[in-house]
Amino acid sequence: MNDQKFKPIPVKYDRVYYGADYNPDQWPEEIWPEDMRLMQAAGVNLVSLGIFSWAKIEPRPEHYEWAWLDRIMNLLAENGIGVNLATATASPPPWMAKLDIDTLPVNQAGARLWPGARQQFCPSSPTFRLLAQRLVRQIATRYRHHPALKMWHVGNEYGCHISECYSDTSARAFREWLKKRYDCSLDAMNQAWGTSFWSQAYSDWDEINPPRLAPTFCNPTQQLDWKRFSSDALLECFEMEARILREITPDVPITTNFMGLFKPLDYWKWAAQEDIISNDAYPDPSDPASPMDAAMACDMMRSLGNCKPWILMEQTPSQVNWRNVNALKRPGQMRLWNYQALGRGANGLMYFQWRASKAGAEKYHGGMVPHIGTENSRVWNEVAGLGQELKRIEPALLNSTVRPKIGILFDWESWWALELDSKPSSEVTMLSQLKAYYAPLYQNNLAIEFVPPWADLSQFKVVLVPNLYLIRDEDDLSPRLEKFVSEGGRLVMSFFSGITDQNEHIRLGGYPAPFRKLLGLRVAEFQPYVDGQHNNLRLLEAGQDLAAEKAETAYSCNLWNDLIDLEGAEVLASYTQDFMEGQAALTRHQFGQGFSYYLGTQPEAGLMERLLLQVCHEAGVSAPLQANVPAGVELVRRENEQGSFLFILNHNPAMVQVDLSGLNEYQLLLGDAGELPQDSLKLDGFGLAILSL
Ligand code: GLA
Repeated sequence: MNDQKFKPIPVKYDRVYYGADYNPDQWPEEIWPEDMRLMQAAGVNLVSLGIFSWAKIEPRPEHYEWAWLDRIMNLLAENGIGVNLATATASPPPWMAKLDIDTLPVNQAGARLWPGARQQFCPSSPTFRLLAQRLVRQIATRYRHHPALKMWHVGNEYGCHISECYSDTSARAFREWLKKRYDCSLDAMNQAWGTSFWSQAYSDWDEINPPRLAPTFCNPTQQLDWKRFSSDALLECFEMEARILREITPDVPITTNFMGLFKPLDYWKWAAQEDIISNDAYPDPSDPASPMDAAMACDMMRSLGNCKPWILMEQTPSQVNWRNVNALKRPGQMRLWNYQALGRGANGLMYFQWRASKAGAEKYHGGMVPHIGTENSRVWNEVAGLGQELKRIEPALLNSTVRPKIGILFDWESWWALELDSKPSSEVTMLSQLKAYYAPLYQNNLAIEFVPPWADLSQFKVVLVPNLYLIRDEDDLSPRLEKFVSEGGRLVMSFFSGITDQNEHIRLGGYPAPFRKLLGLRVAEFQPYVDGQHNNLRLLEAGQDLAAEKAETAYSCNLWNDLIDLEGAEVLASYTQDFMEGQAALTRHQFGQGFSYYLGTQPEAGLMERLLLQVCHEAGVSAPLQANVPAGVELVRRENEQGSFLFILNHNPAMVQVDLSGLNEYQLLLGDAGELPQDSLKLDGFGLAILSL
């Protein structure tokens, strides 16, 4: 299902982009020169301009006010600051709803969502599409030769507030989308949706609706197709703008800002239509899991672009305004998290926003220039300090990336299907399962790449498959996984994978039907556990390598127990309790030159870690440093033809010492610790170092 429709512009970077969303239209023009002076002082070289400026650019239909935008574009160019120019379509002006009320979105309960906030558009509204296209054409034509123009920022955070619109307009578009998917065959659609169940058969396309509020569970395939359609409807809006931009400025790269592992949009499909992948990241400074969650989002962005450099398009310099309680980033933490993104392949570090707003719903959101101004401001000193620091180190880092040997299969459609209603357990959710794999790898500094199920796997030594529930025929995944393992690869797969096809119909013949041969087993039944319920695991002889200090430790497991019939696999661990006592819980199967491991349950974190470390060890995949690294210290390596750069990031508020004795030769590109003691490095709390290897 590779959806690449165009050839992306190969972007070569000569700078690490540094800057912010810039909303000069919120401020009197008198302070613009001051903005330029401060931007220079902070090393700003790129700003995202005009994201929410539709009403200012086009205050009345087809009446354009360019003078202010011309002036600020010119001022930025004169000051050597590039512009990531927005198409300004993220928040339609109030006049659009007055012109055509059906441009407004409708929620699942049938309520219309009104202007007064932002993003109030129905993606399928012909009026919205027409007016958005008209505006984009105007903007692109006006600024196509402008020296400040560096890239295009289409829309903004598509789907952030409204990812599904249930209006009648959307319903009509959904029917058209279904006709395309099912080749205009209502029979094919009825088959795919399994409508012989509960008297749901459709005899006319016009009978079909979005999965609006219904007495009980809506048809699962209808829900799944609706999610596909909703992601596609927004993608069409993006593509419609991108087409105009490519026509008018074929050499200017295009991006739109993603939101990490955002469920409603199939980012594999979206990424295939972008020149530059960019992301907005707002990890909560009060959550100890934030460094790992942020790392995972960085890895996803790099993966979406097939390891090419990506841009951290938004982050707060200090705090956000939209949580119940909005913690500050601690001194040093903002800088550290920027280097985390850089270490994981970013080539741009941008904030929301330049100047903290005086009015509006985001006035308590941090800005590079805070309300108190720049004098004696910690936030300003940190952001300006980082901007200057980047100038010193960027030449070394440009156009390098991370090249992991571990792949994690991840698929949006499977995520949607896994979390539809009426499953054996609604406690099995995609992100928690993904994190069960990601956490031990992150804690042990083993780099991963996310890959879609259709991707080439040949660069990996280990492939991990956390709960890949839905498997499409067209991806041909099972023969490709069989090839990967038979040629010596290591595979680890979790329970409730390979269960349904693209229509969310069960793949019959024993679960997980497509992978039985590869795993050497059949799952006959599932026994999910409620929260608090658990079983224990006994390691058998074949599983002794996984034992903690004492052999045969009874590790616990919870959430889910598969009842496994062996068909060639050997048992590493079995259940010790309940009616499945003595039966296989964790297995390994030799397949050609390689091995496939299967987890029929969710083991406690300690066993998950030992298993993944063991598998990586067997496959010859290791962390960048062999020595023990203190907890809370993250290592990641960027490389290019010239060499590699090891980022050592201390997420602890306290100082740590890192043993470098495993490294042959290195130079300190950046370090907080002053002198580099013999084969060891001291890092302050939230401090970091970059070694050139
Ligand atoms: C998102 C949006 C920005 C702003 C920030 C606030 O990322 O793209 O416009 O609202 O959130 O955190």
